[in-house]
Amino acid sequence: PLQAVIFDLDGVIADTAVVHRAAWEQLAAEIDAPFDEGIAARMKGVDRRGSLEILLERAPRSFLEHEKRALEERKNAYYVERIGQFGPEQLLPGAREAVEAVRRAGLRVGLASASRNAPLLLERMGIAPLFDVIVDAARIARSKPDPEIFLAAAAALGVPPEACLGVEDAAAGISSIHAAGMVAIGIGQREDLGEADIVLPGLIAFRMADYVDNKNGATA
Ligand code: BG6
Ligand code: MG
Repeated sequence: PLQAVIFDLDGVIADTAVVHRAAWEQLAAEIDAPFDEGIAARMKGVDRRGSLEILLERAPRSFLEHEKRALEERKNAYYVERIGQFGPEQLLPGAREAVEAVRRAGLRVGLASASRNAPLLLERMGIAPLFDVIVDAARIARSKPDPEIFLAAAAALGVPPEACLGVEDAAAGISSIHAAGMVAIGIGQREDLGEADIVLPGLIAFRMADYVDNKNGATA
């Protein structure tokens, strides 16, 4: 039976996937690295260094470690500047309601975000108290698509992975959920989320009753 739902943050709960993308695109232009839809899609859900390495694959020159750290900091500064004014208005439609529905059904709620800015964003949007467990990149060694982050969230919730539902907007995230042995809900378009077990256009379409059997507890 289903015991917990573990949500990704950027592009699932918060309207920030586009903000990350814009910050990377700005950095790409500054270092003359090409940027296109394919690169943007691959970067989604991947942690800061992993995303930078994808961007640098086709950069006109190679970069030393200290230069990479400076580039990461620059991108993060662009991102932090943009989210500086964020508040509850940046919650995606249906996000708060979905998390509340999970809680009302008596299930535990986790957050598995590759972003080091996740705790700050949750505070700004006023939803931090709705999560029983928050796992962000600072506590994780291996980026999505590795299952580490979803497994860590399940362990912190005290729930076996097979009793968890994961919710993600990125292909790397869906792979991470499946590698963890969980059922995956993809948010977005089927063609970007081929492996997902269920695809919803947004959390506005999330119905807890579709995943929970009221009589016998929850079923995925
Ligand atoms: C993920 C985003 O949630 O976090 C990525 O999907 C982003 O786009 C990654 O690069 C890392 O975020 P941060 O805030 O730690 O640089
Ligand atoms: Mg995401």
